[in-house]
Amino acid sequence: MAKTYRIGVIGGDGTGPEVVREGIKVAEAAARKHGFGIDWAPYDLGGERFKRTGEILPDGVVDELRQLDAVLLGAIGHPDVRPGVLEKGILLRLRFELDLYINLRPVKLYPNVDTPLKDKGPADIDFVVVRENTEGLYAGAGGILRKGTPHEVATQESINTRMGVERCLRYAFELTRKRNQGNKLTLCGKTNVLTYAFDLWERTFYEVARDYPTVKPDYAHVDATTMWMVKNPESFDVIVTDNLFGDIITDLGAMIQGGMGIAAGGNINPQGVSMFEPIGGSAPKYTGQNTINPLAAICAAGMMLETIGETEAAASVEGAVIRSLETGRIESLSAGRMGMGTRELGDFVAGNV
Ligand code: IPM
Ligand code: MN
Repeated sequence: MAKTYRIGVIGGDGTGPEVVREGIKVAEAAARKHGFGIDWAPYDLGGERFKRTGEILPDGVVDELRQLDAVLLGAIGHPDVRPGVLEKGILLRLRFELDLYINLRPVKLYPNVDTPLKDKGPADIDFVVVRENTEGLYAGAGGILRKGTPHEVATQESINTRMGVERCLRYAFELTRKRNQGNKLTLCGKTNVLTYAFDLWERTFYEVARDYPTVKPDYAHVDATTMWMVKNPESFDVIVTDNLFGDIITDLGAMIQGGMGIAAGGNINPQGVSMFEPIGGSAPKYTGQNTINPLAAICAAGMMLETIGETEAAASVEGAVIRSLETGRIESLSAGRMGMGTRELGDFVAGNV
């Protein structure tokens, strides 16, 4: 009997459910083509459920997600809910509890996609960012003392463990070797100022590098990294960095690859269940209008297939996205200006699988 995967679906807030639907549509087309099945398990999480029941992420749900093959997420963030509540309560909590220690964000310019970088094309913009996803400034260390008084003290510390840094670096070296494009791995840090945290990163980096003789280890400060991403994006193959720097440089990465309409990412536990998402937000003002671009969610579904081991199906999804863009029928990647609706674009890509 053909293999059947069980994939959790968290549509989430705003346009999340609409774009995830198209990701599912395209993944289904790829599954049919490559002879496997997918059982989709929907989870009602996000701002609406929180407003209705006060629940953010029940423990039972986390335990259920652990049993799945992967999770596809739409978007989290609701205009009626204070910023941070859902992000911390759902997205960040899942990253910690499922130990999704890699945040993988490809920055690839597809054909016929506009980049704001002058004179750069698909041959120049094709690299991957490996962001550590469970430590650093996101670990929540620190606190506030004497809140609201003139003597208030606020601290927020970056937590970097040898184990956490090393497993992230090893993943990045493995990926660079497997990708076999430039065979260059750039550590993005700030060794000139953050002389404790990035001392650990840098020492571990060059130690681990000895196990990967075919990969060239390279280093750039985070500020310089943003400069090169704009000026010489072709100089990057794989970038590895900590949680906050990774958060920041991947928004820049999303912009140079054509924007939030196309940027996808994976929250990965290489030994467990991983979660894939379009990296843009819930875009509340476009909700329910069939105008939001589902390509990022479709690409996220493709990354999911790759990670569960359906490499050929993943290649079919990416190929279908590229072919769809090559036809020139997708007029823009911006919501409302695509020349077709959300569902129609999903149908178009699914048809190209
Ligand atoms: C991201 C987002 C999250 C982050 C927010 C929503 C907490 O910006 O996935 O990059 O900062 O990691
Ligand atoms: Mn971010």
